Amino acid sequence: MIEIRDLKKTFQTEKQFVHAVNGVSLKINDGEIYGVVGYSGAGKSTLVRCINFLETPDEGSITISGSGTFTARSGRLYHTAEGSTKEVPAGEKQLRDLRRNIGMIFQHFNLLDRSTVAENIAYPLQYTGRSKAEIEARVQELLKLVDLSDKAGAYPAELSGGQKQRVAIARALAGSPKILLSDEATSALDPDVTESILALLKELNTRLGVTIVLITHEMGVVKSICDRMAVMENGRVVEEGNVYDVFANPQADSTKRFVGASFGLSNVTRLQESGFITAAPDTRLIRLTYGRESVGEALISEVSRIFNVNMSIILANVEILQDMPLGGLLIEATGDPLAVDQAIRYLEERNVKVEVILNGMD
Ligand SMILES: Nc1ncnc2c1ncn2[C@@H]1O[C@H](COP(=O)(O)OP(=O)(O)OP(=O)(O)O)[C@@H](O)[C@H]1O
Ligand SMILES: [Mg+2]
Repeated sequence: MIEIRDLKKTFQTEKQFVHAVNGVSLKINDGEIYGVVGYSGAGKSTLVRCINFLETPDEGSITISGSGTFTARSGRLYHTAEGSTKEVPAGEKQLRDLRRNIGMIFQHFNLLDRSTVAENIAYPLQYTGRSKAEIEARVQELLKLVDLSDKAGAYPAELSGGQKQRVAIARALAGSPKILLSDEATSALDPDVTESILALLKELNTRLGVTIVLITHEMGVVKSICDRMAVMENGRVVEEGNVYDVFANPQADSTKRFVGASFGLSNVTRLQESGFITAAPDTRLIRLTYGRESVGEALISEVSRIFNVNMSIILANVEILQDMPLGGLLIEATGDPLAVDQAIRYLEERNVKVEVILNGMD
């Protein structure tokens, strides 16, 4: 478990103070893949860099299973060992122990160009008291884990982006950490490669039980592998929850924009502006969003029959999220206005979110 309490980090530049992380509290469970999304400058990288103290927070505390609690006060860091109540100034030793528990991967891989793949992976194992043979064996194991056994002797320049990220993942896992921090690890990769890296992360999560904190600005990434997620804006968490629930019912404006960008039917306003959709007289354009409890298409024919209204599907968008359908329909309803009202109520009672986009009836 990673429990972050009221974490703050302010940067002072020549002209101003930047409250990069401004009071973040989060709880990330063991074994989960937790996504942190937000627009550029929201404070995502600063937040993850505070989790392994590459950045020292100003205030707040972080408790990590197996590593105790780190508390920051006025930019100074203190440590309380697990099961202890005694707080001591956090020094190199405490940080080294913590970092052994946490691996990290980055957008630009951060590999050593003059070292081979095997040497890059072996790097964090130096000075850990392991023999050369032990390190060699561990490197072979890691190469196999990320499916790069045939590239041990290659140099980073000879690898594709996806292969480089696999090396970085192997290196991050060298010391068998329980937590993997991933800061935009797929942002520099094309979609196919992104998919294969995400599949690898998911596999590592399932097979090794590694907890993954995944920073991204791509909602597709969150959708494909995260269990829970937080949305950051201006250094704060503005929304948090199960990925499915956040997508099905986004609350904060920035979440709505994020979800909208990745979910076609949220862009109906654009279709209105372009004149693609209009409401003819005596019709209503209605957007339906539905989740695991209801299957929209079946309900449409049901309400059409019961209330004698005509509902034709103009656009449909159904995705599978966490192995459950999440869908939306844009429909044009025609019929007696009162019957349409009743039909809408019927749908709402069945957990379908109904929004009248255009109303040509009144
Ligand atoms: N070392 C620093 N010195 C001064 N300001 C900083 C520093 N690091 C980050 N910031 C500022 O803190 C804010 C948050 O930055 P951060 O890198 O955490 O954002 P981010 O959400 O990761 O953005 P991106 O998606 O672009 O990576 C930004 O306004 C940034 O300019
Ligand atoms: Mg960043």
